[in-house]
Amino acid sequence: MLLTQFFHLLVIGRLATAKSSSIEKTVDKVEFTKNNGCTKPFDFPAELGGPSKGIQIGNRKVRITLPKNYKQDVPAPLILAFHDKNMTASEMEEESQLSNSVLNPDSIVLYPESFENKWMSDEDANLKIDDKKFVGSVIDGLSDQLCIDPNRIYAAGLGVGAGVVHFLACDPLFSKRISAFAMTNPALYAGLLSPRGVKDLITLRWQTCKPSRIPIRILEIHSENNTVNHFRAVTTGERRRIPVVHWLVEWAMRNGCGSAAGNPYMEDPDEPMYLTDLEGGTIHEGAIHMGKLQRAYYKCYERSPEEIVAGFMQTFEKLDQGLDKDGEADKLESKDKGEEGTKEGTELSKKIAEKVKHNPEWDKPKKERGIVSIMHYFVKNNGHGWPRVSMKNGTTEQFGPGVAPLPTADAPIFDSTVEVLEWFRTHKLSDEARAPENPERDDEVLDKVVDELDEDEDAKSGTKTGETKGAKQEMADRIKDEL
Ligand SMILES: *[C@@H]1O[C@H](CO)[C@@H](O)[C@H](O)[C@H]1NC(C)=O
Ligand SMILES: *[C@@H]1O[C@H](CO)[C@@H](O)[C@H](O)[C@H]1NC(C)=O
Ligand SMILES: *[C@@H]1O[C@H](CO)[C@@H](O)[C@H](O)[C@H]1NC(C)=O
Repeated sequence: MLLTQFFHLLVIGRLATAKSSSIEKTVDKVEFTKNNGCTKPFDFPAELGGPSKGIQIGNRKVRITLPKNYKQDVPAPLILAFHDKNMTASEMEEESQLSNSVLNPDSIVLYPESFENKWMSDEDANLKIDDKKFVGSVIDGLSDQLCIDPNRIYAAGLGVGAGVVHFLACDPLFSKRISAFAMTNPALYAGLLSPRGVKDLITLRWQTCKPSRIPIRILEIHSENNTVNHFRAVTTGERRRIPVVHWLVEWAMRNGCGSAAGNPYMEDPDEPMYLTDLEGGTIHEGAIHMGKLQRAYYKCYERSPEEIVAGFMQTFEKLDQGLDKDGEADKLESKDKGEEGTKEGTELSKKIAEKVKHNPEWDKPKKERGIVSIMHYFVKNNGHGWPRVSMKNGTTEQFGPGVAPLPTADAPIFDSTVEVLEWFRTHKLSDEARAPENPERDDEVLDKVVDELDEDEDAKSGTKTGETKGAKQEMADRIKDEL
């Protein structure tokens, strides 16, 4: 309900600010934002199974790979992969191996490049640059050209790029457009230490997190010896970083897991796995891979609309009781309100239950419901980067690009690429849960889709070699005509 209001506001806001002559145009374009790449003949300047292609969109560069199994009439998953600070899109492609056709035969991968080496999640971000808006335009633009499954769009990032992933997960719109999120060694900022931090816009960005769907599915991988983006609370310059555990607890709260309802315990003495009960879920944690890797995952129970309303009513009752303590005079009145409120709440929950499609999950006992919504890995003896490591006793060693070496009894393998791809494979949005379209679609940016970069040019150099003629230019012209 809230989200619908949100869309209304955006649409009205947009129409109200548009010049009268462009109103009709705006409406046309909203209708055009259908996933219609699937009905067009394939004509994209990239080969199936790689190599990646550099594409210029507006003032930004992206690299893109099409998977070897891509078919123009079968909706394919799309992964957006955000590089770290001081990194290029091609370096991200190399380090993450997300486009490796053996590991990933099915998903399109898009590597956007930051503007002037800064993402909006940077500690000294350029506040005028809105990476989220750019991401929305890119998804829409690609969906017009390629056959993309709108229920399988994913975001992955490394370091500061993982910060962009956090912002997408926190966004009312993108939390409903992107199915699942993955972050390796993210830069997570809290705020400034100085008093001016209160009004600091970057701090406000980090403090505002308003996903419009729960649970949000997040995979977080962090290395013990990361001295760039520390696991624990550390201050760099004036800016403070959020300790990873604190950040995980915040997400568990947002996902409706509630706070801890007891101490960790072992369910099975033979399994080195601890359980912590939460008000609305459980945390499972333990060491795996010969103690070189710690894994913790949060399972938040899926609650029925009635249970959600009952939870709210309990909160109101608690508030009322709190008021009672303050003075006898309020006592009777607030008690009355409490009872009335409970009645209203019951009515409300009945109404909601009538409207919402019944989910068989709600009939199960609480502990058996729901999905793993937050997965966290802590990689010991490893530093900053995208961990793809072999864990011999005592050490962890990064292995090179390509497919991981075979694990042996004394050297298990942990491959972030495999974990991230698996995390994405196991999550898909539903049509009901998805935001229908990007109301902030930036047509100016889209008008400039697609200027292909020279094939040999490294995206790093940042210079454009000019318009390439032929099929690609035709495509660019055609897109312009169609818009
Ligand atoms: C990024 O590059 C700039 C310029 O080369 C350098 O001053 C800075 O320390 C680098 N930052 C990181 C995090 O590597
Ligand atoms: C990583 O950090 C741990 C704990 O501080 C330390 O014992 C270990 O020696 C470090 N490993 C490396 C490779 O620096
Ligand atoms: C470490 O690995 C070696 C073989 O590489 C093995 O002989 C030894 O028992 C291992 N040590 C531990 C503590 O697992």
